[in-house]
Amino acid sequence: MQSFPQGHTGPAGSDVLVIGGGIIGLVTAWRAALRGLRTAVADPDPGGGAARVAAGMLAAVTELHHGEQTLLGLNLASAERYPAFVAELEEASGQDTGYRACGTLAVALDADDRAELRELHALQLRSGLTAEWLTGRECRRLEPMLAPGVRGGLRVDGDHQIDPRRLATALLTACERAGVVFHRARAERLSVVRERATGAVLADGRALTADQVVLAAGSLSGRLAGVPDDARPPVRPVKGQVLRLTVPRPYAPFLSRTVRAVVRGSHVYLVPRENGELVVGATSEELGWDTTVTAGGVYGLLRDAHELVPGLTELPLTETRAGLRPGTPDNAPLLGPTALPGLHLATGHYRNGVLLTPVTGDAMGELLATGTLPAAARPFTPLRFTTNARPVRQEQPA
Ligand code: GLY
Repeated sequence: MQSFPQGHTGPAGSDVLVIGGGIIGLVTAWRAALRGLRTAVADPDPGGGAARVAAGMLAAVTELHHGEQTLLGLNLASAERYPAFVAELEEASGQDTGYRACGTLAVALDADDRAELRELHALQLRSGLTAEWLTGRECRRLEPMLAPGVRGGLRVDGDHQIDPRRLATALLTACERAGVVFHRARAERLSVVRERATGAVLADGRALTADQVVLAAGSLSGRLAGVPDDARPPVRPVKGQVLRLTVPRPYAPFLSRTVRAVVRGSHVYLVPRENGELVVGATSEELGWDTTVTAGGVYGLLRDAHELVPGLTELPLTETRAGLRPGTPDNAPLLGPTALPGLHLATGHYRNGVLLTPVTGDAMGELLATGTLPAAARPFTPLRFTTNARPVRQEQPA
């Protein structure tokens, strides 16, 4: 492993410097290293970030929203890549990622919830997706722990799950094995020379240089000093509070798939892992950088989850945590070159960071190795938010 903590020196120059070591930064670095590029990551705590909180639903179909058809294409492309991506990552890291092809059931508890779910079903069908409407009885036959009041639901067999913490750890190991250099310090300022990004200065004063810089710092991506205004990513933090419960051993049958619902307008989801962990999420709060776990947040999640699966209140509550989703103005990620030559973005994945990890890695690897962003990622160019952008020069292969 090549790792350089604060105060230690290491190679200061690379082909690619990735700022941010969450799952998006790590998958970008891994893919770049596999393409033969000398790659470094700057992050005080690689493998951390929003993935430490996320539930890990791969919910391209059940999290479909009106107006997000273009994003749906990217989400589906990534979902399709997941099995092969997981197999490659598990082989490269020697670790299990907790990927589970279990499907999802989205249910309704009252007439309003049912109307909303019917609306979602119509949108799914118009979008060519597969989702089957079930009666309340059929839902309970699939998941006997569901409340008797469940009025109907949508069975989506293609929306699976992964354990984001294991995913992050596996990516970290895969990066290390591929020769990625880790600088365990915060990147403080982007270095720009003659209108080109050339590296970054770390909080400990070290200056790193690189031919190409990727800003992949999640919700913090907009805060890096030295980024010109027309290249600065328009990301904002959107807080999510998430609970973890534990089904005691030996596991009684609890839930066999992800179950989600809209309960009086709030979204709640329950993600059961094979190891007995049950993740309950999530709030969605526009509160800036606040990551406090609040009594109200925990209460609301447990109240809604209890309405859905009453037996859940018997389980030990083992963790409460809040994270920050990197939201963008159109809820879609920012992938590719910016108006500043040498600076690329891989950020703004908002609710879909875990789902979009494989396709982001592939797109960024291709861009970094060849200078061309693949067609699937082009609608997500950061330049869509850049008005009066300076002309963008086509990057040459590194
Ligand atoms: N995709 C789940 C969430 O953002 O809470």
